[in-house]
Amino acid sequence: MPPEAVDGKAVVVVDTLRATTTMAAMLANQAEAVLPIADLREARRLKAELGDVLLAGERSNRPPPDFDGGNSPLEYPGERVAGRRIILTTTNGTHAIERCRLSRALSAGALVNAAAVARWLGTVGRDAVIVLAGQEGELALEDWLAGGAIVERAQGFRRSDAAEAARLAYCARRDDLLAALRDCEHGHQLWQQGMQADLVFASREDSLNIVPVRSSEPGGDETPGRNRGQDREAWFRRA
Ligand code: MLT
Repeated sequence: MPPEAVDGKAVVVVDTLRATTTMAAMLANQAEAVLPIADLREARRLKAELGDVLLAGERSNRPPPDFDGGNSPLEYPGERVAGRRIILTTTNGTHAIERCRLSRALSAGALVNAAAVARWLGTVGRDAVIVLAGQEGELALEDWLAGGAIVERAQGFRRSDAAEAARLAYCARRDDLLAALRDCEHGHQLWQQGMQADLVFASREDSLNIVPVRSSEPGGDETPGRNRGQDREAWFRRA
């Protein structure tokens, strides 16, 4: 997807296993802000530059050794993250977010916050695009299902065929989302690697009433003419 595809649109990036689930959990636990960064070296450089931030994320599903934590939503309880800023770098999810940098209204969605994100889309009043992070450039079924959950809840939009297909897939599996996640390739991999609790957490639809939304920078700079799309410090906060 070229960056121009989301230009001027309201965008929800979905990486339900696990990056956007984890972002929602961090902010639900009162983290001050989360900065998704695709590049590992850039994430480390920003941590060194900014100082008092947590560095979180994964490569091959595990935290790099010098990181403060991994990409599990369960690693970031309130006593650890309340009031803290967190840099998050992951294999797919943070890349998908960076690819949407030209969007004017950008949020992070998952099963856990599907209803909250759908409500947010209804208030933004623009064409909406749900961007599925996928896995190494391929469709990831868990994102298809989570995208479908958001479509099912969103009111007032005319659905594309892709959006309707995702909604139908979600409706077919909504009665046992944990099994659905476990059946997906990436979900199966996480399960085999001992991260069953992450799948249980990620399968709890609408458990978090949180919409992570990009602000221009920590101070919320809305200066007219500022090229926010190029702003590397594109922090996400609670809407
Ligand atoms: C990603 O961004 O690729 C995922 O969030 C991977 C993971 O499950 O940690």
